[in-house]
Amino acid sequence: MSNANNVVLITGGGSGMGREAARRFASQGATVALLDVNVAGMTETAASFDTVHNWTVDITDYAAVSAAVAEVQEQCGPIERLYNCAAIMPFGKLVEQDNAIIHKQMDINYGGLVNITQAVLPDMLSRGRGDFVSFASMAGIIPMLKTGAYTATKFAVRAFTETLYHENRNSGIRFACVCPPAVATPLLQQGRETAWPKMLDNAGPPLEPRQVIDAIEESLNKGKFFVYPTRDAKIGVFMRRLFPGLIWKQVHQVEGF
Ligand SMILES: NC(=O)c1ccc[n+]([C@@H]2O[C@H](COP(=O)([O-])OP(=O)(O)OC[C@H]3O[C@@H](n4cnc5c(N)ncnc54)[C@H](O)[C@@H]3O)[C@@H](O)[C@H]2O)c1
Repeated sequence: MSNANNVVLITGGGSGMGREAARRFASQGATVALLDVNVAGMTETAASFDTVHNWTVDITDYAAVSAAVAEVQEQCGPIERLYNCAAIMPFGKLVEQDNAIIHKQMDINYGGLVNITQAVLPDMLSRGRGDFVSFASMAGIIPMLKTGAYTATKFAVRAFTETLYHENRNSGIRFACVCPPAVATPLLQQGRETAWPKMLDNAGPPLEPRQVIDAIEESLNKGKFFVYPTRDAKIGVFMRRLFPGLIWKQVHQVEGF
């Protein structure tokens, strides 16, 4: 698509893939609105771009999200594209992980998607156009040991986004649900600082954020809903569908319990 005059809203735009997308769209001529709690990160994303603007918003706060979206529309114009990237990823065995952290993950990773959807989508629907991009994960397809709480949020993101897509399939809006394997962003550090599964080291080096954004753009242009950025990711989906027991066997072997 041509981004000139377009307005893109990116949650979690203060880091990682949201930052990559923000800079790419701004350099293509878009006006970009970032929503994040990471003020320093948003400032860094926006550095050297006059057309990238920041809103400090906790995505779990529906009133604050709605107010920010209204301000974006008033100051920048109608939102043509949404990238919902905001998330956290602390790991741990389910029975040991802090109860509040498990709930917080669901509030941010899934609840945040619910909030931004209800704040942004009605206007897109009334205009009959727009791109809606939701970040799930391969973790939303293949559960593993020590990643259960995060994985549950990404299963929820995938189910929500898939249903949303089908409920609005003739609306003129393009939907994408992104399912990347590990990507080299600060998010991985949260996993490493908590309870990193050995399986993730077996999967090869993480992707670069730009590879994921490329894959999203390609999928939107081809009208594909699920975005699997690598051949291995596609094989993983296939294996999980047909041989879940085989994957679990390997997971137990690698983790040693
Ligand atoms: N990095 C990976 O390996 C990977 C793989 C698959 C899927 N994903 C998904 O891709 C998306 C982007 O991840 P990333 O790797 O760029 O992460 P990141 O950690 O680099 O960026 C996430 C951003 O979300 C923001 N955020 C966290 N809590 C928030 C809240 N309550 N309100 C507003 N903003 C909040 C953070 O401040 C941060 O700037 C996430 O949904 C993630 O789950 C990441």
